[in-house]
Amino acid sequence: MGKAMIIGAGGVASVAVHKCCQNPEVFEEILIASRTKSKCDALKAKLDGGKTKIETAAVDADNVPELTALIREFKPDVVLNLALPYQDLHVMDACLAAGVHYVDTANYEPEDTAKFEYSWQWAYADRFREAGLTALLGSGFDPGVTGVFSAYAMKHEFDEINYIDILDCNGGDHGYPFATNFNPEINIREVSAKGSYWENGAWVETEPMEIKRVYDFAEVGQKDMYLLHHEELESLAKNIKGIKRIRFFMTFGESYLTHLRCLENVGMTSIEPIDFEGHKIIPLQFLKAVLPDPASLGPRTKGKTNIGCIFRGKKDGKEKNYYLYNVCDHEACYAEVGSQAVAYTTGVPAMIGAMMVMTGKWRRPGVFNVEEFDPDPFMDALNVWGLPWQESHSPALVD
Ligand SMILES: NC(=O)c1ccc[n+]([C@@H]2O[C@H](COP(=O)([O-])OP(=O)(O)OC[C@H]3O[C@@H](n4cnc5c(N)ncnc54)[C@H](OP(=O)(O)O)[C@@H]3O)[C@@H](O)[C@H]2O)c1
Repeated sequence: MGKAMIIGAGGVASVAVHKCCQNPEVFEEILIASRTKSKCDALKAKLDGGKTKIETAAVDADNVPELTALIREFKPDVVLNLALPYQDLHVMDACLAAGVHYVDTANYEPEDTAKFEYSWQWAYADRFREAGLTALLGSGFDPGVTGVFSAYAMKHEFDEINYIDILDCNGGDHGYPFATNFNPEINIREVSAKGSYWENGAWVETEPMEIKRVYDFAEVGQKDMYLLHHEELESLAKNIKGIKRIRFFMTFGESYLTHLRCLENVGMTSIEPIDFEGHKIIPLQFLKAVLPDPASLGPRTKGKTNIGCIFRGKKDGKEKNYYLYNVCDHEACYAEVGSQAVAYTTGVPAMIGAMMVMTGKWRRPGVFNVEEFDPDPFMDALNVWGLPWQESHSPALVD
């Protein structure tokens, strides 16, 4: 079918590359390009010899001319951006310059401000439209599959969705007192920010971890979960007609929260530069350097994730509840691709998003979130590529 260029060689990229190589009919050739080329080469060494041809390159994705030149040289059908949210706009600029479709899994966030929102990327809509190119935003699990689940529920189960609760449960145990399951800097910025949810057309802001609920997750059990701000709230509030409230909850254990509070209290999660022995350092980046690398958690993590959406709304004039979710086993993921389930649940939909664009099933000039396309081919692909979904028509609700 064609060629994809994958930017980044971290936890999520590693899974996406494995999945592309399992799917050589679509991904005939891939280029893994990242800041540290040795990580790209290590991935190639692991996967070379199959039907998908793998190339590697060093690139600084923040250097738009350098990145544009590499895209022009490789001539991919799509660029799959699996670097960090800081790179999003630069990669979009390079895709426009080189005339190539764009896919990512996390919305843009300026490096010096802990604030993420879609406005910066949505502002590229005219440029992508005029260039006849597709930019697909947020094709991970959450955002990503949660948006596809919402579009599927809207298409097949409801006339009107009024309430969505997105529940992200990680029941995995890696044995460390404190570690993050994906990039620690991005993860800690996200969970230490104020919470918020969308209700009756406006944002309601909460203190970090102010709202706690307990939920009994299928195949995981009872867990504490906390309301967070999360990026798909913003796009779903815009794209799901009739919506009255959307909330996002993530599970955290007591040990994680105690460590996080302590690190915050001593200033280790700050992104303000400080002087240290004659150098400027950013405490959160230093903390990242001393924490376990998320990639190293794979062999140690046991248990399952359960991520999904509970919908409440109306069908044929009657009130209705519906729950769509996926359960993913950390050890099974590790056995298959050498990564734990958090990277797996992001890397699989990233590959599927790139496949949707490459095969033309999801291709429209402009900038789009996943819920703006037909969910059916993506839902089918989840079942084929390792993230089968389950449904319940009588779920327990969150108050
Ligand atoms: N939607 C979802 O469900 C979801 C869930 C989890 C994560 N994510 C997103 O997935 C993305 C990847 O996360 P991850 O855990 O895989 O992170 P990671 O392990 O830290 O990997 C990031 C990769 O990007 C590379 N990179 C960083 N800056 C770069 C630059 N300027 N130019 C080129 N490459 C650069 C890094 O290179 P080095 O190796 O040199 O550091 C690294 O290989 C993030 O945007 C994250 O927010 C989305």
